[in-house]
Amino acid sequence: MTEVPQERRLVTEVPGPRSRELAARKAAAVADGVGVTLPVFVARAGGGVVEDVDGNRLIDFGSGIAVTSVGNSAAAVVRRASAQLADFTHTCFMITPYEGYVEVAEQLAELTPGDHPKKSALFNSGAEAVENAVKIARAYTKRPAVVVFDHGYHGRTNLTMALTAKNMPYKEGFGPFAPEVYRVPLAYGYRWLTGPENAAEEAFAQAKDIITKQIGAQHVAAIVIEPIAGEGGFIEPAKGFLPRLAAFAKEHGIVFVADEIQTGFCRTGQWFACEDEGVVPDLITTAKGIAGGLPLAAVTGRAEIMDAAHAGGLGGTYGGNPVACAAALGAIETMRELDLPARARRIGEVMTPRLRAMQEKFPVIGEVRGRGAMIAVELVEPGTKEPDAALTAAVAKACHAKGLIVLTCGTYGNVLRFLPPLVIGEDLLGEGLDIIEEAFAAV
Ligand SMILES: Cc1ncc(COP(=O)(O)O)c(C=O)c1O
Repeated sequence: MTEVPQERRLVTEVPGPRSRELAARKAAAVADGVGVTLPVFVARAGGGVVEDVDGNRLIDFGSGIAVTSVGNSAAAVVRRASAQLADFTHTCFMITPYEGYVEVAEQLAELTPGDHPKKSALFNSGAEAVENAVKIARAYTKRPAVVVFDHGYHGRTNLTMALTAKNMPYKEGFGPFAPEVYRVPLAYGYRWLTGPENAAEEAFAQAKDIITKQIGAQHVAAIVIEPIAGEGGFIEPAKGFLPRLAAFAKEHGIVFVADEIQTGFCRTGQWFACEDEGVVPDLITTAKGIAGGLPLAAVTGRAEIMDAAHAGGLGGTYGGNPVACAAALGAIETMRELDLPARARRIGEVMTPRLRAMQEKFPVIGEVRGRGAMIAVELVEPGTKEPDAALTAAVAKACHAKGLIVLTCGTYGNVLRFLPPLVIGEDLLGEGLDIIEEAFAAV
């Protein structure tokens, strides 16, 4: 295991000369469609620090998009995955199975919300998990339609592009998209025209109207929603929206799917974000944080729904790869041992007041929002709610130059989001916040 010193250190400009050399090789050999946020090539990473090939050490407020919640190369992940690598790397669970897959499914049944009998199926990526949740819901209900939300993001395969709201960069030029996908409003408090206090009730009423009048609830297999919209801008639906939707789904025999690929595994201060309002989804999709950086994803849910797909109907060559399963068991062990939900809540307690104080100082910050270690600021033209994407990109760039990895997101490209590893030290967290404040002052 690499031990990366937990301190920021800049020894060259960012990106440095070796990174620039590699960026030139990337430009020649890697398809342009694979974009890069910060062209700093990584040598090693751990805890809250990413070290690049020039010897710069950057503070990580991105976690590889909410993946390395337990830190990069976390000890238990390395230990378990290495042992598995030495034993066997692949047999294909559908050919000759192995215990790790079953153990991950058992852990998922225990950790996800609800005490009903649950089963799981494992896959490689978040998009694949969402696709399979839809397959399972259709097999169970024998209905075609899928309902998704404004600002939703579910992946880059054909079906999940159809489920995703934002055109650029995810969908532009890649259609036609899968049919029987219907989009309804999300209770986005900050931008709800009649005010945040009305968002839950009115957005639900509109969603219900579309489902019952335009689609026909009897044709809907699944309602698929992120408990906090991630790529769409870290939008926590107004309180009451999710429980109303879940109750509506139940009433109409619709499978309620929580896409917890970004919010799950301790990120928001609970094991899963839908616990916040006591919502128990029928199916839950997970990926990202589940395996400490190895590719693994899952659909977990009510046993009778999960069993609706015929034998052989679900799977894939690599789904639930043994090394990825071992890594997941190491990541879950770390989350339990270090009580990472509590660490996520603590990160929120440190970050939110600092960011709110910045909001007082910098009127470009329209809103500070999020839960636990999934925090964002939405940038607008002062005195309005006009999104300011250019400023958002400039603040992110200023942070990168100072050695802080931050990401942007949002339908309007005007949200700066923070997803530190949950194991980050408080000194690094404070230093990162100082850099953000300096970046706002500078731009
Ligand atoms: C909520 C949500 N769903 C699905 C996905 C797709 O996951 P993957 O990139 O692993 O396919 C993502 C990835 O950002 C996500 O945030």
